[in-house]
Amino acid sequence: MTGGLTEPAFATTPMDKLELYRWAVQDPETHAVVLCKMYEEVRPDRHPVILREDFAGTSAESVAWVALKKGRRAIAVDLDKQTLEWAQRRAARLLGARASEVAFICDDVLNVGPPEVPAADIISVLNFSIYYQHDPQKLRAFLDHALDALAPDGILVFNLFGGSSNVQPGTTRHWVEPKPRLPSEAAIPAFEYLWEVRSHDGERLDCRIHFSVPDPVAPGRTCELRDAFTYDWRHWSVQEILEMCSGVGFSDVQVWRHTYDPSAGTAGVFLGSVQPDSFLALESWTAYIVACR
Ligand SMILES: C[S@@+](CC[C@H](N)C(=O)[O-])C[C@H]1O[C@@H](n2cnc3c(N)ncnc32)[C@H](O)[C@@H]1O
Repeated sequence: MTGGLTEPAFATTPMDKLELYRWAVQDPETHAVVLCKMYEEVRPDRHPVILREDFAGTSAESVAWVALKKGRRAIAVDLDKQTLEWAQRRAARLLGARASEVAFICDDVLNVGPPEVPAADIISVLNFSIYYQHDPQKLRAFLDHALDALAPDGILVFNLFGGSSNVQPGTTRHWVEPKPRLPSEAAIPAFEYLWEVRSHDGERLDCRIHFSVPDPVAPGRTCELRDAFTYDWRHWSVQEILEMCSGVGFSDVQVWRHTYDPSAGTAGVFLGSVQPDSFLALESWTAYIVACR
């Protein structure tokens, strides 16, 4: 899906759930920096140009990837037409003429690959979308396809989460104060984001996102958006994922963590490869898989 769309009079409405999601859940500029660092560490002396974002949704990583460095290109793939049209309008607002450096493709990720699209230096599958693959055959088919869609030095990056407190049924509430990092991006008023783990049976994970947004016409009141997003995920273990990545032919599969200890200032930032079992006893963790072609 390509081509220009007409800009709406207002970029968003107070209940634009994709805009709320973008501020509540995503940090695309950090992800763009992290993806580049991963590539440059496993491929010394090479610099990634083409990012392919699978399960792209808002396609915010693609936009950040292009925004942060001239000469880069991105391919954003998602099967939801409305979401991708929203993403395309956002890209036009934030990137102007450079929005043409992002190709938006409305299709199943398994239908998109070279030679119709260029082989990617990096394929990213962030915010845990790998969990959409419910059975081993589907996971293997996706990993196989990703391997074929990568350039010879390419890497596939996706993230996982776990720990007993992360899968314990319950709701956590977060107050979100949007702080744009790209000069072309406008903030929206602060709001509340609720992350609910509704159930977890070891394999299957039912999660929900709800929002509570200040009512713009009735100060002091809020508008509730229940089940704005629902997730029916297969909660793969790190070990299962590592075995599957090696099994389809990735030459090197690393587990990375990005952690921050605010008490140590800039020295408290860690981003790098760790032993796969070094964090599994933690009550709460997130990790990246970096799978090299
Ligand atoms: C959690 S959302 C967006 C995640 C996004 N990468 C992020 O960082 O927030 C997952 C998206 O995957 C899309 N999706 C699910 N299955 C898909 C498939 N087989 N092919 C393409 N897109 C798919 C959905 O339409 C949805 O927009």
